[in-house]
Amino acid sequence: MTRIVHVSDLHFELAPERFKPGVRQELDLSIPAIRAARPDCLVVTGDLTSYGCFDRSQLVGVRRWLDGIGVDYLAIPGNHDLSANVVRGSSYPIMETYEPVPWAATNFARTFSQEPLVHRGEGPVTLLALALREDDPDGSLDLLAQALDRLEGPALVLGHYPLAVTKEVGVLASFGYQGYIDRVRERMLELLHSQPLVRAYLCGHVHAQTVTPLGADLIQLSAGGLGPGASAGWIIDVVDSTLEIRSLRGGGSKVFWPAEMLDGNDALDYHLWCGQEPVVVPLYVA
Ligand SMILES: [Fe+2]
Ligand SMILES: [Fe+2]
Repeated sequence: MTRIVHVSDLHFELAPERFKPGVRQELDLSIPAIRAARPDCLVVTGDLTSYGCFDRSQLVGVRRWLDGIGVDYLAIPGNHDLSANVVRGSSYPIMETYEPVPWAATNFARTFSQEPLVHRGEGPVTLLALALREDDPDGSLDLLAQALDRLEGPALVLGHYPLAVTKEVGVLASFGYQGYIDRVRERMLELLHSQPLVRAYLCGHVHAQTVTPLGADLIQLSAGGLGPGASAGWIIDVVDSTLEIRSLRGGGSKVFWPAEMLDGNDALDYHLWCGQEPVVVPLYVA
């Protein structure tokens, strides 16, 4: 059996912690759950740090933290590791400093030594992990298109931003891709829909654990925010010709968004997926 564990939004900080005091301790509380799941691959869908795009030593720090877990992993940048666009960069200096440089010169690429698209085979499944900025200066979507054309078996695509809205109400009804990757989202969706071998899209950014249909035969999964909350993620098992997807609960805080942003919803219900049965996704569709 092949097992993939999906987490996101670590928001790691080196001491002294400036944005989320105690985040490093919260992250450490989840290491036992990740190790106990014994993944063949841990995938981390961005926001590894809170300000790695401003200070590369933050990315070096989180890389060491990930290495210390002792499992194979595949990580991509979020908007705090590789800012999405100039507007975000000027609105949120330090947290989302825009790097007006080619991919290879970004703090993320220099630290993780990887291309904008990474392919990795895990049993019968191919993982395609994508770094994406607004207007796609790195040519990520062309690389994805080429990789999808060449697929011979089922694939999971990883990105930071949700491509569909994750909640009908509360803050997440309007917080997701909006303001980050508006002009490239449509093409990304078209690419995913163009290849039926893509079986799920794994993302982060919203700090809540959600399951959202992207179409009749494709689902989007967002993991929580492992550092600041919600401390959760997904265990994805390849069993025969299906994916069986269960919740992974970390040891840290389960809530991220303040109560006044939840439109009266219960905070735990808003942040965590509460299904009792696994989500089952066929590996192949006709
Ligand atoms: Fe985040
Ligand atoms: Fe994010």
